[in-house]
Amino acid sequence: KDWYFGAGMSKRIWNELYKVIDSSDVVIHVLDARDPLGTRCIHVEKYLQKEAPHKHLIYVLNKVDLIPTWATSRWVKILSRERPTIAFHASINNSFGKGSLIQLLRQYSKLNSDKKQISVGFIGYPNTGKSSIINTLRKKKVCTVAPIPGETKVWQYITLMRRIYLIDCPGIVQSSSGDTETDVVLKGSIRTGNLQTPEDYIDEIINKRVKKEYIARTYNIDNWSDHIDFLTMLAKSTGKLNKGGEPNLHVCSIMVINDFLRGKLPHFVEPPSNNIEEIPLTNTNQF
Ligand code: GTP
Repeated sequence: KDWYFGAGMSKRIWNELYKVIDSSDVVIHVLDARDPLGTRCIHVEKYLQKEAPHKHLIYVLNKVDLIPTWATSRWVKILSRERPTIAFHASINNSFGKGSLIQLLRQYSKLNSDKKQISVGFIGYPNTGKSSIINTLRKKKVCTVAPIPGETKVWQYITLMRRIYLIDCPGIVQSSSGDTETDVVLKGSIRTGNLQTPEDYIDEIINKRVKKEYIARTYNIDNWSDHIDFLTMLAKSTGKLNKGGEPNLHVCSIMVINDFLRGKLPHFVEPPSNNIEEIPLTNTNQF
């Protein structure tokens, strides 16, 4: 695993990720349906191919409720060329894709009939919904606790069904070295409350990533000249003012970034529209 370190991931984060991969028979790579290639970690896939080719890797395209159905089916077609891909909406009461995912896991459990049980681990970028998927899959809130062989640390295993265990400790993929600072923030990899100057990311959101009509509809604001002008109008209309009556651009910026991340501001990367067979799947998302 050493060759991985030079590739940009901190040792501590990689060690955590490695533990999940190492302990899983099936690795679920959780992608954000709004930007599947941007949240896909090719480096982890290469690692798996090289070091553990016998493990099964599945894509779960999560948050499909936030993109149109045509985009979901196109992404599923594109990604399925590489790995089995399940469209998913993680939700306790209104989930989608749960049955298909469980069915696929059952198949893997049959393939590994020599094993007493198979374990399923989850990896992916922060905020892609790994924990939500685990919570959607688990039936009860009861967990069985089992030690991983060779590990002193005790991990929680959740029984999905007889012979299938979920590892309740997702592996987090760090941002890739190809990401700009803005990419990292807008993928939700940093807590918005920790941002020193959240204003820096607003131009990208309101002028590039989200259609102007959606911004206008969500905030009832139109015709801004630049992002400062936009934030000023937003602060006034929402009453987010400092003690002296000055618009509080900082608080408004955090609100806009949160709305972007949580899906209140609709946005998604359109799947390529040319012949699916010809679309290269290699993206820039490598460490
Ligand atoms: P880290 O712990 O930071 O690695 O995050 P995670 O990948 O475990 O994501 P988590 O489950 O905490 O979900 C992140 C956010 O996305 C939460 O606000 C969830 O409510 C939301 N979320 C998760 N799945 C879905 C989904 O299918 N649809 C929508 N609309 N929101 C989702």
